[in-house]
Amino acid sequence: MITQDFEINFNELKIYSLTFQDIKLLKRNNNKKYKELEVQIKELGKESAKWQNLNYPITTLDIIENHPDQILYFICGRNDIIIGYIKIGRKKLYLYDKNSTCHELIPLSVLDFLITTKYQRKGIGHFLFEFMLKKENVIANNIAYDRPSNRLTSFLKNYYHFTKDIPQYNNFMIFETFAF
Ligand SMILES: CC(C)(COP(=O)(O)OP(=O)(O)OC[C@H]1O[C@@H](n2cnc3c(N)ncnc32)[C@H](O)[C@@H]1OP(=O)(O)O)[C@@H](O)C(=O)NCCC(=O)NCCS
Repeated sequence: MITQDFEINFNELKIYSLTFQDIKLLKRNNNKKYKELEVQIKELGKESAKWQNLNYPITTLDIIENHPDQILYFICGRNDIIIGYIKIGRKKLYLYDKNSTCHELIPLSVLDFLITTKYQRKGIGHFLFEFMLKKENVIANNIAYDRPSNRLTSFLKNYYHFTKDIPQYNNFMIFETFAF
């Protein structure tokens, strides 16, 4: 793939968060803004599904509105155009530790993560991820990653010293250093 060479001004990037309550309020108080947001997130959701070989998007405003446990952090470039997002949530999971002991936990999970193609590999994913870590007061090691792509695994190796996971019986990936 040919990547376009252009500089990112990180001071221009803005990150917003959305919960089911924010969506309900936006729908009620500013339906025009809601519709604009809905269209942009829908397009990105489709792109993310394509990257991950999913048959349908797992991120739309409707989905978030119906999942009180989910939070969408989205990042905008110039003119408030959304260039990516990370969706997180808390799910009850059965996770195995290194000794094959099963734990029932509700860890913070990364459920979907996308930076639109043109803006990939410019540090924006890292910028957004770091913002999310701070807001959620969590470290990368203690997150569960839903069906991580090779690109996300490489991202975690690059920035968060990920080396090895603990094999699980579900689609989630956790670091070997996950704190049970
Ligand atoms: C994964 C993703 C969110 C990372 O965002 P990003 O802005 O590209 O990441 P950054 O620029 O901050 O970091 C770049 C690092 O991420 C990893 N990475 C990103 N894209 C990659 C790719 N196509 N192949 C391999 N590694 C990749 C690499 O470690 C890369 O470092 P490098 O360029 O020095 O090799 C983004 O690439 C993306 O949206 N990919 C497609 C969707 C996807 O796979 N999402 C994960 C869902 S599980």
